[in-house]
This record gives sequence, structure tokens and C-alpha cells, in this order.
Amino acid sequence: ATHAALSEKDCKSITPPYALLIQNLADARQHIHHKLTLAEKILYSHLYDPKKRVGDEGKLRGQAYLQLRPERVAMQDASAQMALLQFMSAGLAQSVVPASIHCDHLIQAVDGAKSDLERSIVTNQEVFDFLESAARKYGIEFWRPGSGIIHQIVLENYAAPGMLMLGTDSHTPNAGGLGMLAIGVGGADAVDAMTGTPWELKHPEIVGIHLTGKMGPWVSPKDLILHIAGKLTVRGGTGRILEYFGPGVDAQSCTGLACVANMGAEVGATTSTFPYTAAMRAYLNATGRAPVARAADEAAAQGFLSADEGAEYDQLIQINLSELEPYINGPFTPDLATPLSKFGEFVKENGWKDDLSAALIGSCTNSSYQDMTSVADLASQARSAGLKTKVPFLCTPGSEQIRATMERDNVTSTLEDVGALVLANACGPCIGQWKRTDQPSEENAILTSFNRNFKSRNDGNARTMNFLASPTIVTAMAFSGSLQFNPMKDTIPLPSGGTFKFAAPVGQDLPPAGFTPGQNAFYPQQTPEPQPDTEIIINKDSQRLELLEPFTSPFVNGIRELPEMKVLMRVRGKCTTDHISAAGPWLKYKGHLTNISENLLITATNDEGGEVNVAFDQGPDGQTTTDTIPGVAKRFKARNQPWALVVDENYGEGSAREHAALQPRFYGCNMIIARSFARIHETNLKKQGVLPLWFVDKNDYSRIGSGDDVKTVGVSQLLSGNISATIKLRVTKANGDVFEIPTKHTMSEDQVRWLQAGSALNYIRSQMAL
Ligand code: F3S
Repeated sequence: ATHAALSEKDCKSITPPYALLIQNLADARQHIHHKLTLAEKILYSHLYDPKKRVGDEGKLRGQAYLQLRPERVAMQDASAQMALLQFMSAGLAQSVVPASIHCDHLIQAVDGAKSDLERSIVTNQEVFDFLESAARKYGIEFWRPGSGIIHQIVLENYAAPGMLMLGTDSHTPNAGGLGMLAIGVGGADAVDAMTGTPWELKHPEIVGIHLTGKMGPWVSPKDLILHIAGKLTVRGGTGRILEYFGPGVDAQSCTGLACVANMGAEVGATTSTFPYTAAMRAYLNATGRAPVARAADEAAAQGFLSADEGAEYDQLIQINLSELEPYINGPFTPDLATPLSKFGEFVKENGWKDDLSAALIGSCTNSSYQDMTSVADLASQARSAGLKTKVPFLCTPGSEQIRATMERDNVTSTLEDVGALVLANACGPCIGQWKRTDQPSEENAILTSFNRNFKSRNDGNARTMNFLASPTIVTAMAFSGSLQFNPMKDTIPLPSGGTFKFAAPVGQDLPPAGFTPGQNAFYPQQTPEPQPDTEIIINKDSQRLELLEPFTSPFVNGIRELPEMKVLMRVRGKCTTDHISAAGPWLKYKGHLTNISENLLITATNDEGGEVNVAFDQGPDGQTTTDTIPGVAKRFKARNQPWALVVDENYGEGSAREHAALQPRFYGCNMIIARSFARIHETNLKKQGVLPLWFVDKNDYSRIGSGDDVKTVGVSQLLSGNISATIKLRVTKANGDVFEIPTKHTMSEDQVRWLQAGSALNYIRSQMAL
């Protein structure tokens, strides 16, 4: 069977409402008069209120905050847990926008697809049961373990030109390959979209990347983004959208563009996008979505799916694809880009051993039909010469559809003939879920077609140097086993004597016989009806999942100021969301707020003493006890002692991780006073009912410290609707000194309602009850 063609009706939930979007854009153009890039068109057509002015012309990019209405949400199994737990506490019967859950990160690769999948389902049963029951209750599409990797499935099933989507994973931008904006976010942002709350984004700057020329036979879209990563570095895309255009875009397959968009995350870009192309249309048709393609054709005819002629970019990068060569990036950072022709020299200069220890292909970045048929071409050339790969060669298909189509078209058998081990359709080694049986005890090098190569990411071994390349380069080098091998010019000795040289790989963009869907069991019901009677499955003794108790509002019985708080500590210097809620071994507790809160601020520095993870508790008995930061927070919680935190510059920079706001609130934090906040984290604090305040005079930071009592003066005015009210802090020191400190706030009227209700979710729930 080929991929079932979906009807107009089936495609309703996956076709962007183009007429509405185009009208929204026309409304926005009443107050935005410059020529628009494609990214701006997609953003402005998704404004929550397109008729409302968002800021001064010329001061939008990089400055204005946009309130947006995303059309869809996708969540992977690790991050979906807290997103759903929060969504549940909003009390809605279903998600306001279509949403999907994908079980991919929790599957461990050991010895092959079938047994790995079976074993991982047992190990993670409680998480999968929870996700599935929540999906059923709220009408969310549930892609069970084995169905594939979130981004591949989104591209195959949900992505559409001109759409705005959020995903709780950093490589969500992969869907940009279909000419849309897909943005990776934290669970709290996904909950905004699912509850219909405006989703806020600082207007990104737009980088234009103009592609001309034609790629050579060994060069692929992966090499383009590896080259760009080298140019822009891991921070070059921060707060920016990468918008590609020019004749070089039209020459790429849709899945090739998706690979480029996927790895925009490696330069920190908000997302990446491309104007609608014939290859996108062909991909939509091949994946059964002809009605979406027809609707996109019409929208494109009205100029919606490409930039206005003469639109300006904040930076313009010119790339001639004819000059591009294959790249190998790494080790340990994706922006250390070395052209293939120089890589042998680079290995020698660094004194590394010339041996490759493993080669891995696939993942969400590179498991398209084009990738797989290209590597199968190389494998078949080598097989004809009697060669097998010299090192373990692992292949992770991105989805059941890709796996089944590879099998039908003899791609899999060709790869297996030369020694490949095909793993489950899941993240596996890409996210460190690789139980490497041949774990080397010394420095060794692996080559992958994945997207990230931080230390220890793949096999958990800090001595494994991980390099990124295209699937064809990875595959060719697996046959030589040498890091200095350049398949474009070098030969491999044959056991029978003589030498073998690869011809340039040839793949096919799309399967001539169509995609085959594979096992039906993996496919969810499309836009399922919510089943409100479904019981959400959480074992009460679970160490991984815990229902969220709604946070209580401090404003009850006529109280109009925050309760008197104790200052827990004064945090010194850089404090990112990683400092506030560490990752690594804590990831398994993402769905269990009590357990994960044990990591609160454990790498933060106390300005009073300069030590990391040390705080002081002046207990009710007057004795000062030294403890860890979560230790003191727990004592405060046990005593029902509300508390506040004093923090430094740019507090909460880093990611959108909602745990960094949930955890202090869980322990009883009501207020954080900063020299400055990172905006996303500041909003996350507001969502959880924590009041973020800024020192008017940054020197006041040093005047408040551990054990001080703090009261607010002025919150009552905020609650009465005086949004420009200033709030003062009345500080009482241990020695009895009392003084006031002026602060500023950035609360909007909506956000004051969140504070008043105890959290944004409480507020949403109260609105439902009306
Ligand atoms: Fe999974 Fe790796 Fe992609 S973790 S989502 S395959 S980046």
C-alpha cells in the first residue's frame, strides 16, 4: 500500500486557514508599512490581534513583543510530561489547537529495533501510559513508541507552508522545510497555545540567506548547514530567524530544506524558513496531502508564501552552492567546521588517531528517503566490490513510514548486507540513549549524521570525539575506517588486491512507488474526539510522575499585598535556567515536581560567602543553620514561610525551561527581585504566580540579603487596575533597621490577573468556570 491520500475533509485540521491568515496580514499592514520578509508575513498573520499596533515602525525587529496565535503544538515524550501536567491544571476539556505527542526520546538503542522497542516500552511504561491516557482524554494525537521521531512525523503529517507551530523540542524548526515557522519552546509556552492564551515572542531579527549556484555531486543540504554553522557560530542565530531565498532554494528537495532548518537550532536561531517551492508541493502530494498543496498554491499566488520584492534583512549572507564542499564539524561543538578536503590535515595537526570507532546515520536530521537512497547507493557500490563497513554502522530511521519504505525498496537489505544495524524509529543514540556495547576506554572518534555533538551526548563517554557530517560522508568513511579518508578522491584497498573508489552517490528525492505507511498500529486516529471520562494514569507511588497541585493565591480574604517574605538568598552573577533547574540526571524527573525540585539552584552562587549551593536559615529559634539551597527552601516550605529571592543581571537566561519557574514557586517563593531578568524566564515566573521586580537602583541589590523580612507596598494598586503603579519594598534587617527600596515591574493587565489568581493556569481555570 502507498501512503493513503487524504481527502479535503481529512486535511481540514492540517490546512492552514489561508483566507483568514491573508486577511490578518492585510489588517496588520494597516499599521506596518514596510516591505515584508516571509518570516514577517507568517508572524504578522498569526498576531493575536492583527489590528492592534505592535510597536513603532523601524523598531519592531529585535525590540517589539508579539502576541501570537500558533496553530498547532507537538510534544515529545520527555517534555510532554510537564506540559500536560500543567495543561491538566488549567481545567480545559480539550486543547484549543490540534496537538500531538510523540514517544521517541525514551527508547534506548542496544541491539536492534524490535528488542530495543520492547524493552523501552517496559522501562518507560508508566510515562507512556500517562501520555496516552492524557492524549485520549484531551483529544491529542498520540504517536506511540516506534512510530518515529517527532520532527520527521510532523514533516510527514502536519507541517504546511505559512503555518506557525510550537514544539516542545529544540529541533522543532525542522518543519521549516515546508515553508513555515516552527519554533522550539518549553512546556509552559505549549500550554499557552493549547489554552488559547496569547503566546509572546520578542520580534526576532531576520537574517536573509541568498542561495545561488548548484551543489556538486558529493555535496548535500547537510553540508550547507554545517558550513553556515561554521560561519555564524553557535550563538550567531540567537533571537533571529534564518530566511533562505534565491534560485539555490528551488533546487533542493523538501526534506533537504528540512535538514537545513533542523540544524538552524545549532546556531541558536529562533527558527528557519524558505519560500514555497515545487519540491514542497511534490512532498505534500507524496505524503498524501494534495488538498494542502492545492490550498498552498492558491495562497502562494496571492504572495503569502514568499517575501515581498525588495524586503530588507537585518543581515544578508550570500552563498554560492557551486563553491560548497562537504564539511565535517566537531568535535564537541557543531560550529567547528572543517571542509572535507582539509579534514585529514586537521586530524593530523591535532595528533588524533586516524581510526573511526563507529558511524551512525539517520535521526530527525537526516533520515529522508533521499538520504537513505543515497547511502544505499554507496553501500551497494561497496557491496559489489566485496566490502563491508570497517566499524559498527548504525542506522536510525526517522519514522515508520521511512522504515517501511526503505524495507520495501531494498534500502534496508542493502545496508544490512554491508553490516548495518537498523535501530528503532526513535531518537536512540542521538539523545544518549545508546548502550554502546563496544564502549572504548580511550579517546575515540565517531562520525554521525545527527545535529548535536556536545561532549558525552551520544554514548555518555566524554572521551568520544563526535563529528557531524552528511549521511553519505558518514557512510563512505565507515567503509574505510579512517578519519583521513576522503571518498571524493581516495581509494580503499580490496581484500582481493586492487583498490575501490566510490562514484558520487545518487539518491531519489521521493520514492517512485510512493511511500508505504508500514504498520498501521503506529498511526493515531486523526484529530481524535476528546474522551473526558478517561482516567489519567499516574501511579500514586510513582517517582517519575506527579499530579500538579494548583498553587494557592496569596490574595484571599481581602489581602491585597503579598505576604511578608523572608529573603532566602542573594544569588551572585550569572544564573541561567540550567543553574536554576539542572538537566542531566534530573531529566528523568521532568514529570515529578517534588523530585526535580531537589535540584533548585544547586549550581548558583550565594553572594553572601561566595559558595555554590549554600544557603542560610535563620530559623524561628534564632539559630542560623547552613544548608543546601533546596534544603533551606524545603525548610521554608515546611514552615509555610513565604520567601523571596534577590538576583543579579539577566536572571533566567538560557532556555524556556518552565521548571525553573515552577520549582521556586513550589517551595513557596512569591517574589524575585533582580538587577535584570531574561524576558522569557520573567514571563514564565509571572505564569506561575511569582512577582518579578527590578531594582530601580541596581546598587540596592547589595542592601537586601539572606534572612531579611520584605513586604511589598503598592501591589494593591496593581490589583486595582493601576498598571503604572510603582511597588516599593519595605525591608526589615535582622538588627531591626527598616528601609524602603523602589522597584519597577513589567506586569501587563493580564499578568496581574495571573498573579492575583496564584498562576496563569488558575486564572484560565477560573475563566472556564464563569
Ligand atoms: Fe531526537 Fe536527536 Fe532529533 S534527540 S528529536 S533525533 S535531535
